[in-house]
Amino acid sequence: MANTELKIAFVGCGNIAKEHLKGIKKHVPHLKVTAMVDSNLALATAMAHETAARPFDSLAAALAEGDFEAVDIMLPHHLHEQAAVMAFAAGKHVLLEKPMAPTLDACDHILQAARAAGRVFMVAEQAEYWPDAVTVQHLIQTGAIGEVLTARAYFGNPYGLPQSPLPEPKPWRFYLAQAGGGITIDGGAHWLRPLRMWLGEIEAVVAASARPIADVEGETLLRALLRFRSGAIASFDAVWAGAFMGAGDEFRVTGTLGEIIIEKGNTGRVLLYNAQHPTGEVLMVKGDGRSDAFGYELRDFTNAVLNGSALKAGPAYALGELRTALAMYRSAQTGRWEQVWGD
Ligand SMILES: NC(=O)c1ccc[n+]([C@@H]2O[C@H](COP(=O)([O-])OP(=O)(O)OC[C@H]3O[C@@H](n4cnc5c(N)ncnc54)[C@H](O)[C@@H]3O)[C@@H](O)[C@H]2O)c1
Repeated sequence: MANTELKIAFVGCGNIAKEHLKGIKKHVPHLKVTAMVDSNLALATAMAHETAARPFDSLAAALAEGDFEAVDIMLPHHLHEQAAVMAFAAGKHVLLEKPMAPTLDACDHILQAARAAGRVFMVAEQAEYWPDAVTVQHLIQTGAIGEVLTARAYFGNPYGLPQSPLPEPKPWRFYLAQAGGGITIDGGAHWLRPLRMWLGEIEAVVAASARPIADVEGETLLRALLRFRSGAIASFDAVWAGAFMGAGDEFRVTGTLGEIIIEKGNTGRVLLYNAQHPTGEVLMVKGDGRSDAFGYELRDFTNAVLNGSALKAGPAYALGELRTALAMYRSAQTGRWEQVWGD
């Protein structure tokens, strides 16, 4: 008889693991977390208490003694490759937080290991499931704003400035060797995915970046233009400035017949302007939808394992945000347009 339940191990019990656990509890009753892995055993143990899971201090120990068919890897970026390859070698299905890895070579190794294992592999990018992003995708597909000409994405990272004095070592995100970049390769991915959902594939980018937070080795400010294969152009802004940031639009999509706006924050609205709604129609308020999206992505992965259903976005497609970030980094160095898929 086919399995109706999937057992999974969390690998990394930090910030994002809390969101994944909330999503599972709310939306994926057929996914059971049976192992919690963190090199900080106290974190693994605390999360294990919330479920019927067993805590482990390493993936190797969990693979040797745990009871699960899949892993959900939520580690610092430089550890993604080793953990994913190890999990595939043990025959596990793998859900891996974005970015797949900080370099394309590391991504190739992971993709090879996934193919050799013949298991389900998904890169977690919850923006694919954001209800507001999906609503806009549907509006565009049904012609609500005509042909899309241009879009703007603005990611203002709302987290406070790093505490002073900083702990040593600093959090992994502060080091290029661990994060692979700054705000663009990291949270920026969630603002690039919707652009790809709406405008199609990105062909080339030109970018400038800066490091207003000196302790962070990667960029905390990046502004870029993106040219899509469709001919459309868009702008992408990402900034980690401090604790106080204003309201406003985070996305604006302009077409030949109208415009769509998504406002910042949970109270942000999705607004449609076209001939039927010349002064703007509120289509939805974001509410908890973005947080629910973690549950939707975990449900997609679980169903792919249990039923063989197709993932909404496969791993090869998920390379798009990483490739875009890496092309922006090259452009910030060269000062020229850089191809996203060219190498
Ligand atoms: N999708 C999103 O919105 C989102 C948001 C934040 C982070 N992320 C992604 O999630 C991943 C983790 O980020 P985070 O913010 O949760 O980081 P974090 O630092 O909060 O958590 C990482 C955890 O990994 C543990 N760890 C480190 N080395 C380990 C090892 N060798 N074995 C086992 N555990 C180890 C740490 O102790 C820590 O608890 C990254 O890929 C990041 O980009 C995604």
